[in-house]
Amino acid sequence: MQKNFDLIIRHATVIDGTGAPRYSADIGIVGDRIAKIGDLSLSSSKNEIDLQGRVAAPGFIDAHTHDDRMMLSDPEMTPKISQGVTTIIGGNCGVSLAPMPRPIPDPVTPPLNLLDDEGSWFKFPTFASYLSALKAQPATTNRAMLVGHTTLRVAVMDDLESAATPAQIEQMKVLVSEAMQAGAIGVSTGLFYEPAVAAPTEEVIEICRPLKEFNGLYCTHMRDEADGVMDSLEETFRIGREVGVPVVISHHKLIGQKNYGRSDETLAFIQKSMAKQPICLDCYPYAAGSTVLSWSRAVTSARVIVTWSKKLPEYAGQDLDKIAEKMGVSQEEAVEKLLPAGAIYFRMDEGDVQKIMQFGPTMIGSDGLPHDASPHPRLWATFPRVLGHYRRALGLFSLETAVHKMTGLTAVNFGLADRGVLKEGAYADLTLFDDDTVDAVATYENPIALSKGIEMVIVNGEVVWDHGKATGARPGRVLSRPLTRV
Ligand code: ZN
Ligand code: CU
Repeated sequence: MQKNFDLIIRHATVIDGTGAPRYSADIGIVGDRIAKIGDLSLSSSKNEIDLQGRVAAPGFIDAHTHDDRMMLSDPEMTPKISQGVTTIIGGNCGVSLAPMPRPIPDPVTPPLNLLDDEGSWFKFPTFASYLSALKAQPATTNRAMLVGHTTLRVAVMDDLESAATPAQIEQMKVLVSEAMQAGAIGVSTGLFYEPAVAAPTEEVIEICRPLKEFNGLYCTHMRDEADGVMDSLEETFRIGREVGVPVVISHHKLIGQKNYGRSDETLAFIQKSMAKQPICLDCYPYAAGSTVLSWSRAVTSARVIVTWSKKLPEYAGQDLDKIAEKMGVSQEEAVEKLLPAGAIYFRMDEGDVQKIMQFGPTMIGSDGLPHDASPHPRLWATFPRVLGHYRRALGLFSLETAVHKMTGLTAVNFGLADRGVLKEGAYADLTLFDDDTVDAVATYENPIALSKGIEMVIVNGEVVWDHGKATGARPGRVLSRPLTRV
């Protein structure tokens, strides 16, 4: 049967995102959908790409981002589309740009300053007004957004060092309901961070109550990823059970030398608990983390690289010990002089990183910080690094599994219908890459660099990235979860 296609991708090695084995086929796209996968040798189109056996995969879904503001301030999203990402999950770690119904404190409360250290972008009084802005000025990628518990605390509480009062909990619940009604997909917490540390488990449970009605998710940067990690997993699962929703453990990791190797213990517990309730997790492919600078985090790290400093921007990209030497002060004093600032912390075990990444249910999320002057390389290179370094060079898993962890698995976990898979009728979100060359280029020393091997990226049927350049198309959409109850 002959059909008119807007775009035909010929001679593709199809990795369909479900984890199924690869096969060879042509792919025909009509509008924003995949119309046909098969032999299209009798069809033609004005737009044709001959892949000559290179890979066509679903566009990658970045399970964990802080792109809330980048979608508005840099809608081309180059760090994302250049590595094959077509959909991002935003609003993680308790940090979302909206809602902010009153002026944000000056200086901006860390870690909310990871999104904007000036404060002018925290200008959306409701979640609906934020999503309207995203729809009015589309970015290149699709996005599904969480509402952040720390943002809610800053929005309604003056004393962040205490538990929320019943009245404040009520206010936060109303904001969560409004956000879910507007199209948010769930709530995130960052219980590890100073402005949320004082929140008891019960506060989180109460403010998450509206999630059940909207089939929302609970995503968390847990209270403790170090010595107390087992208690934090327990707390996370309890919140999921009491609210009655799935949980997502964000960037699962073990911090601190004495916890190296404990992924055996955490993954066994996660696996066992998965039999009783819905649990998801993601990770980034690096043994160093990145967030706001603090001496307590720096002192427990083998190496610290400063990623930005508001007062002393010239030190971005340099190691803290070298900065202290240049200043002629202790490292602790150097931290004081640099604040507010961000940093990369080397305090994980590579063995744990690999075990967590290999664990079947683990999704890939970058946790990239797009506004850092000298960012952690995960911002530009997460997905190519998994495909090149961990899959091709180290052989941690098959290409089919690697792609599944960044596409089909993530779409199912986040409820993104007809995304993350290549099948007839699905949205035409695709990443076309060369399996022999795909790899990260960005490093800790040179963190801003295009990855290798990502040839073309297509979002909702439109090419957004073509051999090293953005095309200018901005077809990204706001995605929501279906309202079916779990
Ligand atoms: Zn986090
Ligand atoms: Cu994060």
